[in-house]
Amino acid sequence: MYRPRRLRSTPAVRRLVQENRLHAADLIETLFVKESLTEPVPLTSMPGVVQHTLDSLVDASRKAVDAGVGGIMLFGIPSHRDETGSQAIAEDGVLNRAIRAVVEAVGEQTVVMADLCLDEFTSHGHCGVLTDTGEVDNDATVELYAQMAVAQARAGVHVIGLSGMMDGQVARVREALDEAGFTNTIILAYAAKYASAFYGPFREAVDSQLKGDRRTYQQNPANGREALTEVALDVDEGADIVMVKPGMPYLDVLAQVSESVTVPVWAYQVSGEYAMIEFAASAGAIDRDAAIMESLTAFKRAGADAILTYWATEVASRLNGRS
Ligand code: PBG
Repeated sequence: MYRPRRLRSTPAVRRLVQENRLHAADLIETLFVKESLTEPVPLTSMPGVVQHTLDSLVDASRKAVDAGVGGIMLFGIPSHRDETGSQAIAEDGVLNRAIRAVVEAVGEQTVVMADLCLDEFTSHGHCGVLTDTGEVDNDATVELYAQMAVAQARAGVHVIGLSGMMDGQVARVREALDEAGFTNTIILAYAAKYASAFYGPFREAVDSQLKGDRRTYQQNPANGREALTEVALDVDEGADIVMVKPGMPYLDVLAQVSESVTVPVWAYQVSGEYAMIEFAASAGAIDRDAAIMESLTAFKRAGADAILTYWATEVASRLNGRS
């Protein structure tokens, strides 16, 4: 009789037959920087995560690199917001300044990425500019993304994380980067991004101004096949890496995407996934560290090459035996 339990009988055998393994370099740390802060501000909906000052951001980036993470993703929160999100493009806008500071500190040792979206910068909180009737204007938004991309590339970013879900954004941003001479700047396309309730804590993290929802541009959580259309378009338009977001509730999508493309496929374990595990663990309902490792390993099993996670530094240290 074939007995599958034979291969589970000792820790040594289990280790030898393990199919998927996490490495520190698979993990991407996600950090928030807020303009004009004098002290880091802890987030109540994400215990352990803070909004950084520019200085504490640089410190956190150094720690992440020392722990061995594969890269760092930056989000900026400006003091001034307007209809068109002009601080996203301004050379001295908070995110562009943060990119410069982090690239200067650790840019030779790691990969520095930035979110490219307007929602943190607009007064209405949408990921794009609005028409007179209040709809998100796809093509006008994509033009602003092109300018934002060039501004980020000038600041030295290595990877641009296109998270706005506008049609044609990858092609237009690639064209703008190439025209400005940034042919080596990598495009990470949030190719399949769902209108998800699991972004809840992120809204606190970026002081989101959004009233309403993003359902005219982010995907319907009920749709799986549609993700493959989004991914195919982004790859065709020149995406270097594609991502699925959120993570845990969309492992089926991740698995299908990883079978359908030959570019790297990443997953984003979002704020709500982080909060669920932290709060369940602090209530004594689950074993925190085991749940974190299990959730991250599940992304690898589903086909992710790398994972954006708010635990990246902590887990990378653990994997490298440094904690
Ligand atoms: C948009 C963006 C969002 C997240 C990352 N980029 C919010 C949204 O689409 O509403 C959410 C990430 C998270 O929840 O951890 N710039």
